[in-house]
Amino acid sequence: MSDVRLDAVRKVYPGGVEAVKGVSLEIADGQFCVLVGPSGCGKSTLLRMVAGLETISGGTCAIDGKVVNEIEPAERDIAMVFQNYALYPHMSVYDNMAYGLRNRGTPKDEIDARVKEAARILEVEPFLARKPKALSGGQRQRVAMGRAIVRKPKVFLFDEPLSNLDAKLRIQMRVEIKKLQRALKTTSIYVTHDQLEAMTLADQLVVMNKGQVEQAGAPLDLYEKPQTIFVAGFIGAPPMNLVTVPEAGLPGLTLIERPAGPVVLGIRPEHLHEQPMGPDTLTVEIVVSAVEAVGAETYLYGALHGHGPELIVRVPGRATHAPGQRIRACAEASQLHFFNPQTGRRID
Ligand SMILES: Nc1ncnc2c1ncn2[C@@H]1O[C@H](COP(=O)(O)OP(=O)(O)OP(=O)(O)O)[C@@H](O)[C@H]1O
Ligand SMILES: [Mg+2]
Repeated sequence: MSDVRLDAVRKVYPGGVEAVKGVSLEIADGQFCVLVGPSGCGKSTLLRMVAGLETISGGTCAIDGKVVNEIEPAERDIAMVFQNYALYPHMSVYDNMAYGLRNRGTPKDEIDARVKEAARILEVEPFLARKPKALSGGQRQRVAMGRAIVRKPKVFLFDEPLSNLDAKLRIQMRVEIKKLQRALKTTSIYVTHDQLEAMTLADQLVVMNKGQVEQAGAPLDLYEKPQTIFVAGFIGAPPMNLVTVPEAGLPGLTLIERPAGPVVLGIRPEHLHEQPMGPDTLTVEIVVSAVEAVGAETYLYGALHGHGPELIVRVPGRATHAPGQRIRACAEASQLHFFNPQTGRRID
């Protein structure tokens, strides 16, 4: 068992910046937890407090049922992988992976067994004798991960480990990290600001904003039922359309059933369709201003009624639409999201 439990954890940096404002989270044994949120929202700070690299200003962090607030990083039995994986350039891949274990006085044959095992899992066996400079970016990142794996820690902590890689390699490594974590079943906390990476990796997805947790849960639960306007706009690409609709309504927008008062209406681009599908609750009229074809689908951008708020409509495959064209798109009641414009919270 090595779960991680955060209870009202706060961080106030010297100078008074409150980077983390009372975060409570439970990360179960073997779970892959992803922290996602915009730059400066406190992700790295939270991770570094779990690692013991930052002091905790308030609340508690427990690993394996034991409060670790006052425990030194080296004693916490965690391994961290950073964006700048900083391998030792003068050491071979083998020595880079063995370094931490040697420092701890692990017996030689134990080190050898663990390094070879990690190298096999990560498919870097052919490069064990090479220096890091003779490796590709992705291979280097795998060696950095190997360094963490050989430690057999209770918890892996990742801080944007893929952000130095090009787009294609990122996707490849994303899949590999997921497979690796499934195989090792090590409790993991992974920080990223890439919502797609977050969606695909997480067992538990935690959306942070301004030092607080906006929503935590299974990725598709957050996608289907965002509890706040922030989460609605953050999860999903292209983003959910969010339109403030006054009590009196908006020109070009017909809404058959809606909560009373002004609301923020949310509708994902993929849930707006041009063919009426029966009992549609929402109908919008848009004047197309831009057409973006990405191959498998096409995104139509356009202003409501020609001059209202901008909306995005996804159409499958290749589209024949052109700027200036007026289109009508509909959506069913079950695909609509409503939020309170004052509190930003979901209305059910
Ligand atoms: N050592 C420090 N002293 C004072 N303030 C800090 C310190 N480190 C971070 N901060 C502030 O704390 C807040 C959270 O920073 P943090 O690095 O945790 O953000 P982040 O979510 O990891 O962002 P990014 O996605 O850009 O890495 C920011 O406002 C930052 O300026
Ligand atoms: Mg960070």
